[in-house]
Amino acid sequence: LKIFSGSANPKLASAICSHLGIGLSRLKVSRFSNDNLFVQIQENVREKDVFVVQPFIAPVGDTILELFIILDALKSASARRITAVIPYYSYARSDKKDAPRISIAGRLMADLIQTAGADRVLTMDLHSDAVHGFFSIPVDHLTAIPYFVNHFRERLDLDKAVVVATDAGGAKRAGRFASRIHLPMAIIDKRRVADTEVEQGLVVGDVKGRDAIIFEDEISTGGTLVASVATLAAAGARRIYAGATHGVLCGPAIDRLVDSAIESVAVTDTVHLPEDKRVDKFVTLSVAP
Ligand code: R5P
Repeated sequence: LKIFSGSANPKLASAICSHLGIGLSRLKVSRFSNDNLFVQIQENVREKDVFVVQPFIAPVGDTILELFIILDALKSASARRITAVIPYYSYARSDKKDAPRISIAGRLMADLIQTAGADRVLTMDLHSDAVHGFFSIPVDHLTAIPYFVNHFRERLDLDKAVVVATDAGGAKRAGRFASRIHLPMAIIDKRRVADTEVEQGLVVGDVKGRDAIIFEDEISTGGTLVASVATLAAAGARRIYAGATHGVLCGPAIDRLVDSAIESVAVTDTVHLPEDKRVDKFVTLSVAP
């Protein structure tokens, strides 16, 4: 078994290797002067069971292209089986044709991953379960829910708590978490008005006087989360916490969350938290195990 890392999240790849008690295998990634990427696998992988860790982190286009070239290089080097480990599959948000003349890019990426040489994919908490079906190779769709269950059990008194889904689309996911942690659930009525802005209204369910745990697949600009915090506070929730597998935290996300009334935000290490001093509200749970 050999584990390689692309440039996206070598810390996670190293943590996975430490957990397995093996070293990270070596590859070299560089750029030619015309900006073309160059990848060379620096170990013999003939007949080996090989894993490449590369979550789709910004710059997403470069990250994905690098993965394709690594997969192709491994295939050319006669690896026996190649598993693309993509803990965060950003294009899962592009899973349907919900506007005219658009691409279902989540499916396109799946096609290209297979073409590049992956025999199998390992991923985590996809935004949309439909993405699983975009692949014709085996996909292991893991979840970080058990880590969040342990985290909130240790941190909160769950006697008067409630799990909250930020919209109807996330209700299934939050419901899975709620049943694992044995808590009731509430759902917020959310409408996205722009990429970075959401509007929210009613809360369906009982949150008054309860600690609310908002449960999400990802935090991108933080718009959903801050709007949810305001909605829950107005509905009488006591303290408000959040758990989200992928802490993408782009654009204004950190400022928005630091300035919000949220107590703490738990994310996993599928994506790196930016080196920002104000992130003491954030707790990172490692999914390396
Ligand atoms: C959307 O449906 C997802 O589950 C998340 O709510 C969304 O990705 C969060 O995006 P943002 O942080 O930009 O509001």
